[in-house]
Amino acid sequence: MKDFKKSTIYQIYPKSFYDTNGDGIGDLNGVIEKLDYLKNLGIDYIWLTPFYPSPQVDNGYDISDYYNIDPSFGTLEDFEKLVQEAEKRDIYVMLDMVLNHTSTEHEWFKKAISGDRKYKDFYIFKESEKDTPPTNWKSKFGGNAWEYVEKFDEYYLHLFDRTQADLNWDNEEVRNEIYGVVNFWLKKGVKGLRFDVINLISKPEKFESDTEGDGRRFYTDGPKIHDYLHELNENTYGEYEDIVTVGEMSSTSLENCIRYSNPEEKELSMVFNFHHLKVDYYKGDKWTVMDFDFMKLKALFKTWQEEIQNGWNALFWCNHDQPRIVSRFGNDKEYLKESAKMLATTIHMMRGTPYVYQGEEIGMTNPYFDSIEKYRDVESINYYNILKEQGKSEEEILQILKAKSRDNSRTPVQWDDSENAGFTKGEPWIPVSSEYKRINVEQALKDEDSIFYHYQKLIRLRKDYEVISNGSIKFILEENNKVLSYVRNLGDTTVLVINNFYGESTKVEIPDEYANKSAKSKILISNYKDSSVLNKELNLRPFESIVYHI
Ligand code: GLC
Ligand code: CA
Repeated sequence: MKDFKKSTIYQIYPKSFYDTNGDGIGDLNGVIEKLDYLKNLGIDYIWLTPFYPSPQVDNGYDISDYYNIDPSFGTLEDFEKLVQEAEKRDIYVMLDMVLNHTSTEHEWFKKAISGDRKYKDFYIFKESEKDTPPTNWKSKFGGNAWEYVEKFDEYYLHLFDRTQADLNWDNEEVRNEIYGVVNFWLKKGVKGLRFDVINLISKPEKFESDTEGDGRRFYTDGPKIHDYLHELNENTYGEYEDIVTVGEMSSTSLENCIRYSNPEEKELSMVFNFHHLKVDYYKGDKWTVMDFDFMKLKALFKTWQEEIQNGWNALFWCNHDQPRIVSRFGNDKEYLKESAKMLATTIHMMRGTPYVYQGEEIGMTNPYFDSIEKYRDVESINYYNILKEQGKSEEEILQILKAKSRDNSRTPVQWDDSENAGFTKGEPWIPVSSEYKRINVEQALKDEDSIFYHYQKLIRLRKDYEVISNGSIKFILEENNKVLSYVRNLGDTTVLVINNFYGESTKVEIPDEYANKSAKSKILISNYKDSSVLNKELNLRPFESIVYHI
């Protein structure tokens, strides 16, 4: 049995991982072929984003059948083989459960729309006159969150695309169907579950317009959310001993996250929150370009790290919805290696379970697409149109997408410097980043000093040092506007983590209680070959990151 506190989870977006049959789309066999590579990195679980049958409007987050594999990714047999081959390498499989909504192509929705009352009650239909949606709630992908159905003179709710209809969790039959889905996959040997936007499943009793915002305050961490998660646990994974679960928590609160992940509540093992990834949203608006607010980032980490003591955080910078971190908070030109390693260390030495998103371990960057034709993501294309309507110029919009589009992380994994970065022998479904000759796996494996080996070492350290997996955490140097620093502690062991977030050198004063112990200290990991021993005063070079064991 694996201890999730010592584990690292690797996220795979199968569509962009590795294509074995030349159709330009990554597949399950592609994952099998690369398992040895992942084993070498040292990860414990692979989280696969949705591969179920789907019209692919939202790249699989619009599921039309919970019990099968989309033919573009392979078959159920391929999946079973993947589970076995992974286990041979001591890697477990974590699946993505999209239970807040289904595709409108799902049987349930088709029956609902044909007028079958039982299935209509699987979704959230509300009466309201044509052209006056029931509430003013906004879809996360832009526009109103309600879709009118002429035939019923009613609307159905979709917090995401109009082809992703929200399920009615207040209906017990829906909950029972969902338990069936989760149990089906658990029986196939799955050992991890990632629940998509799971804190949005409990809708309010009354549906009313939001005079202060977009409606999220009514359905986020909704009235029955803890009951539903607790019941889900009891009826599915709670019956096993070794299942790790993580909930994706949209716009959540610290109090709720402590409860979601406190073992005593029997809900989930851990939570993803996104507050630290909104520090470059100008006035809270994602579709803007701004430098990230470093002091805000520090304050958020401090709060979420220090105060979640009875709960457990998922630690991450990257996923399939976020731009590449080295392009975002690092420097993907002159300091690619230094900044990618520094950012990795920042997260991996924290308290929680780290997640690595495919390509992050070799420092993949945003692709900086120069035309809208290269984008595939439904959210990016919707916002391209919305920003156009607002009167922004083509150039301005492309600048925003280059920084914020979800496609920044969805370009194919760069395996080598051959055509299409070795991802496919066909035409890739989304263009490969032009950086693939500089940044690719083959190259990283040959270079002892690569970002890959830095990640490999970080993953190892979490297993070898109890203080990293289980120690307490305290942030220091809070006023410093260049350096993020914290201390981990367990018994007599202290680990001091120091990260320069900027491309200039900076001096930092180490508090006496640590500096005084410099004689017995050693460096666990750093991103310069000759980082200084621990001293009262340290001169940090651009993006320098040092971890001292004292
Ligand atoms: C989550 C997924 C995202 C998807 C959305 C709707 O945020 O990570 O990719 O579009 O949920 O399912
Ligand atoms: Ca394929």
